[in-house]
Amino acid sequence: MSSEDLKRQAALKAIELVEPGMRLGLGTGSTARHFVELLGDRVKAGLDVLCVPTSNATRIQAESLAIPLTTLEETPELDLTVDGADEIDEDLRLIKGGGGALLREKIVAMASDRMVVIADASKQVATLGAFPLPVEVVRFGFRSTEAWIESCIEEAGARGSMALRLAAGGEPFITDNGNYIIDLKLGRINEAELLDELLRSVPGVVETGLFLGICDLAYIATPDGVRTLQVDRSVD
Ligand code: 5RP
Repeated sequence: MSSEDLKRQAALKAIELVEPGMRLGLGTGSTARHFVELLGDRVKAGLDVLCVPTSNATRIQAESLAIPLTTLEETPELDLTVDGADEIDEDLRLIKGGGGALLREKIVAMASDRMVVIADASKQVATLGAFPLPVEVVRFGFRSTEAWIESCIEEAGARGSMALRLAAGGEPFITDNGNYIIDLKLGRINEAELLDELLRSVPGVVETGLFLGICDLAYIATPDGVRTLQVDRSVD
């Protein structure tokens, strides 16, 4: 089974959670793309939903499928967000932002009663950090912000290097919000909560790709079927 087939399987499970009248957050990336495509089929068949996309790319896809869209200004509370992830650990802590949409993805997920992640099994890890952690920073003074990020990494007991994300043409990658992304290559993150707290206290850091205590259900597609991972957030 190809990795696209696996992503499709996970998306098919998530589409089962969608009920008429729901307000949905639409994730970004190649796995979320499958979900949006399936949702488009349901909408075409008459399903009534209202959706907030997490990126311009997803908005364009949703518009092409005539999926009804809204904004968080008009609809600040959502029922369900379905999104992909770059890494998922067993407590459903995530690294996201490989596609550069982490800020809007986190805002939309936090506005939702539930965040469900869909992924193939390659995304499941014992410890977060092999995937470079994206940190969105404002462009002003970003070299100074980088120096502060370095001290946060040290204080959180991690080690590694960082790189300004570049676009295909070699120029700095610019997010939908007009910011830069610095990717932290740490190998492993033992103290994710501490690192996240430290990074978010730095002026210039807009958001990190650590999604901690946000996702409560994940569908992980394997060649042997789709595994369900769940944590009870009502006791958090
Ligand atoms: C985009 C994201 C994506 O959800 C993440 O990068 C996974 O993407 P894909 O499904 O293409 O592997 O966080 O910012």
